Amino acid sequence: RPRLLSGIQPTGVPHLGNYLGAVSHWVRLTRQDGADRPWSPPSLFCVVDLHALTACPEPAKLRQLTLETAASLIACGLLDSPGVRLFCQSQVAGHTELQWLLSAICPISKLQHLPNWREKPYNNAAIFTYPLLQTADILLYRATHVPVGEDQLMHVELSRELAARFNTRYNCSMFPLPEPLLPCGAAAVAARVRSLRDPTKKMSKSDPTAASRIGLADSDDEIWTKLRSAVTDSTPGVSYDPEQRPGLANLIDLLAALTDCPPAEVLVRHGPVENKLALKRLLADSLLERLRPIRRRIAELLAPPDGPAEVARLLRQGREAAEAEAAATIAEVRRLTGLPPL
Ligand code: TYM
Repeated sequence: RPRLLSGIQPTGVPHLGNYLGAVSHWVRLTRQDGADRPWSPPSLFCVVDLHALTACPEPAKLRQLTLETAASLIACGLLDSPGVRLFCQSQVAGHTELQWLLSAICPISKLQHLPNWREKPYNNAAIFTYPLLQTADILLYRATHVPVGEDQLMHVELSRELAARFNTRYNCSMFPLPEPLLPCGAAAVAARVRSLRDPTKKMSKSDPTAASRIGLADSDDEIWTKLRSAVTDSTPGVSYDPEQRPGLANLIDLLAALTDCPPAEVLVRHGPVENKLALKRLLADSLLERLRPIRRRIAELLAPPDGPAEVARLLRQGREAAEAEAAATIAEVRRLTGLPPL
């Protein structure tokens, strides 16, 4: 039966790339309700705090960012549909146990081929085995579909390969081969939201320039300042040409994803768009309309006295659902590999 799972690092309030590339897609997928809801409950989303340890965060900071990330996902409406659960990865022990079992069937070369660990400024073994933990996140719940942005495709591919390897090695059909789900339709362009300062790069939390990204809780002023200074080009006028005019195309893509309109039609549907400033104004209007309620909800969820308590309650509920699923997988995997039952 189809099962959805995805994860996000606890970097605090997500940026527009996380939101359009992943979170808003998660919300859309889980809203397919009624008799034709295709997903077998629970649909699971985790804040991957163990992954975050690879960047050696300060303990108090990690706690705070984990809370902010969870609150933001809830504020985006992720838990509004029945059968959707959000939890902290580190609170379900099965992730690390399954990671170890998978590490025993994964050739070292498979990890060496993945580019990410070389690019990181830290030097620790967890950076290298990071993709194995991600595979464990997915396989622990026998997920069939993993909604992600484009930058995660290689990681989902590894989880397919390891699922197949496990099934072959132990002569079983324990794990379905998970498929990545990129945003589709008008939102397909959101699979890779680019930096506002350099459209050759993706929008990223690790970019030192804060003006390169828009956070879901940024103020109206911050959003307008960042959009107004977004890098475009010196060609006069406005046209959609991702090859020649990538900065402008990024802005048009954002408007397309937000208004559910194919990017090639955005300038007509919302037009006439006289110049770049007019485009930026249109984008600002549509962004603010979308983000204002989310920003307000994040603040409410984080504000004491009854704020964080609600987030904690929802995470506890998520953890219970995740643990039940994980326990069944771990029991079966232990049996298959010849380990004694717990
Ligand atoms: P993370 O936390 O970097 O990103 C969370 C999600 O946001 C997407 N994303 C983007 N999409 C479009 N444009 C962008 N500029 C952009 N930046 C980020 C990512 O593709 C992702 O879907 N390793 C993962 C977290 C993870 C995970 C998992 C994901 C751990 N275990 C299991 C899926 C399944 C990561 O670092 O995502």
